[in-house]
Amino acid sequence: MCHATPAAEAPRPPLAQAAARKVALALGILIAGQATAAGIGDPAAGQRKAQACAACHGPDGNSINPEWPKLAGQHARYLVKQMEAFKSGARRDPLMSPQAAALSPQDIEDIAAFYARQEQR
Ligand code: HEC
Repeated sequence: MCHATPAAEAPRPPLAQAAARKVALALGILIAGQATAAGIGDPAAGQRKAQACAACHGPDGNSINPEWPKLAGQHARYLVKQMEAFKSGARRDPLMSPQAAALSPQDIEDIAAFYARQEQR
């Protein structure tokens, strides 16, 4: 018999649920871990490192020129991804790409932590 009888299947749902709970827990830890990783950056160090960015993005990430995106209040994780994309060349912009090229992974986390804490105006 290939098909399990309902009786044979009876103990499976609880097991499947337990497995699903484990997966959910693992995912939860993973997501929490990522959120923490994005939050590990030091916003004070980020503020110092972001001085070079102020000319375009404003001292607190509220860009003066509508051509330049506001960084204030954006998710740290998103900011990290965008800086990494500029650095790797996956995202290109003649003004922005050279800015990202010199950033270390720690710079990126710190800067993202700083801008994420600023209020977008
Ligand atoms: C010369 C002007 C200029 C400077 C200086 C500059 N940027 Fe940018 N930045 C831009 C422009 C223009 C864009 C939008 C590019 C595009 O349209 O893809 C951008 C986009 C970004 C984005 C993506 C925003 C989003 O919403 O997707 C991030 C993050 C960023 N810059 C971070 C920085 C950091 C960090 C620095 C300093 C190390 C910096 N920028 C310095 C011009 C600048």
